[in-house]
Amino acid sequence: MNRETDIVAYLKSNLKDRIIGREIYYFESVSSTMDVARELADRGAAEGTAVIAGIQKTGRGRLGRSWLTPKGSLAVSIILKPPQERLRYLPAISSLAVLQAIKNFGIAARIKWPNDVLIEGRKVSGILIENAMEAETIRYSIVGIGINVNFNSAEYPEIARISTGIAEHLKAEISVAEVAFHLLSELEVLYIKTKDMGRVTDNWLNNMETIGKRIRVNTGNAIKDGIAESVNAEGNLILRLDDGSAVEIIAGDVTLVKD
Ligand code: BTN
Repeated sequence: MNRETDIVAYLKSNLKDRIIGREIYYFESVSSTMDVARELADRGAAEGTAVIAGIQKTGRGRLGRSWLTPKGSLAVSIILKPPQERLRYLPAISSLAVLQAIKNFGIAARIKWPNDVLIEGRKVSGILIENAMEAETIRYSIVGIGINVNFNSAEYPEIARISTGIAEHLKAEISVAEVAFHLLSELEVLYIKTKDMGRVTDNWLNNMETIGKRIRVNTGNAIKDGIAESVNAEGNLILRLDDGSAVEIIAGDVTLVKD
């Protein structure tokens, strides 16, 4: 079987009785899976609908950045409709799902707040969460996950120092369909667990390399240096500044600073 072209068949026969992946759309090439998922959600697509693309021409990342999706990558956007009070858990469960999916291939990975996943300090996955609100109420949320699977960072000198792919660490190419299967299965389990988030949050914090480290946060309009102290109930980062005061970071780009 050519698993990359039969990714939908592979997922449908392996993901059973699911919320996540109950409808799966696959495109060889697309602008961004976020846009396709949004269109589907606006037309009433069910919760759990997943949009997967082999290539994204204009993949996007957090903070207005672009996201590279060359052939051999996994790009997926999932439509979720969580109760409003569970929306804040989506960064934790999606980054943990990526972490577990990668661990299934015998590779250790860590989370960098809020939801980057790193192998040996280099980024292997990024997550973008976009919410559609009506007044103050959530209509749906789209969780977009990009994983560098058969991605050879050496081919992309501009990001080679900070990015990596799973295959680089296995010294062999792997099936994108299998990565997608593990990812969607793990996300399903964790999504159901948002009903009782205590243990999931502990697991998230235990896998986060950021906590306790000296970091620099770029919030888009300010740069803040300090020690990453903890993450609060909303999933926001608590940063202890050098003057002893603490600030809450809602969104930003974190880099570790060597002491
Ligand atoms: C980031 O690290 O800045 C987030 C990257 C998110 C990339 C994924 S790939 C699937 C989905 N489609 C997109 O255009 N972006 C997300």
